[in-house]
Amino acid sequence: MNIILLGPPGAGKGTQARRLVEEHGMIQLSTGDMLRAARTSGTAMGKRVAAVMDEGNLVTDEIVIGLIEEQLSIDNSKGFIFDGFPRTLGQADALGNLLNKINKQLDFVIEMKVDDDALVSRIVGRSTCESCGEVYHNVTKPEPNECHMCGSKIFRRRADDNELSLKTRLMAYYRDTSPLIGYYYAKGNLHSINGLHDINIVAEKIGSVLNC
Ligand code: AP5
Ligand code: MG
Repeated sequence: MNIILLGPPGAGKGTQARRLVEEHGMIQLSTGDMLRAARTSGTAMGKRVAAVMDEGNLVTDEIVIGLIEEQLSIDNSKGFIFDGFPRTLGQADALGNLLNKINKQLDFVIEMKVDDDALVSRIVGRSTCESCGEVYHNVTKPEPNECHMCGSKIFRRRADDNELSLKTRLMAYYRDTSPLIGYYYAKGNLHSINGLHDINIVAEKIGSVLNC
């Protein structure tokens, strides 16, 4: 089973993808995570995309399609979760072609609908413990005094988790990514769910689409 989680920044794609990995052994392919890893390890590509990501703009189709193509050769009996990819019509066409080439198909596209006010508060209020990765919500500066899981006092925010970059990320979503809703509706594999519910309820709704 190969699925796409489609939704604006903060819709909960990564959160739900990680659950599907834990519960069903699927493989999460997040282009955002891959690009952040390339930045951290200082590759030439990582350095090239850093400023674009921090501003909240999309990196080129060529780069992200290349990243996904490299991963599709991984042995995956349980299926791929495409998280944050595709984000443009060009990427969607490329994904269809890449899957065809390896005799695989796309089974479900799950659109996670969340209104803009909730997205802003989820993203701008997100802070993560540098040590153990615990995620804190609704955090306004200053950061929490210490992590309740491990006691660390160091917190980090994604460089693009600020109001200005989020505005650009949202505009990129509405301009370049939202046309994919119609694209996959026309192909017959679109399912829309309300992503405003509690994380567990959203997971149940995804489970009932996937029948798992
Ligand atoms: P990417 O990393 O994909 O980021 P994004 O989609 O913009 O934003 P998030 O990852 O924050 O959203 P999410 O839907 O995963 O939400 P999450 O589960 O984290 O992309 C980053 C950048 O990389 C892009 O801007 C672009 O520059 C580049 N890029 C990546 N892919 C690209 C591509 N294909 N083409 C071109 N450029 C690309 O949840 C958010 C928060 O909400 C968390 O704190 C979470 O705990 C909380 N939350 C989740 N679900 C719920 C819920 N149901 N109720 C309450 N809180 C919730
Ligand atoms: Mg994400």
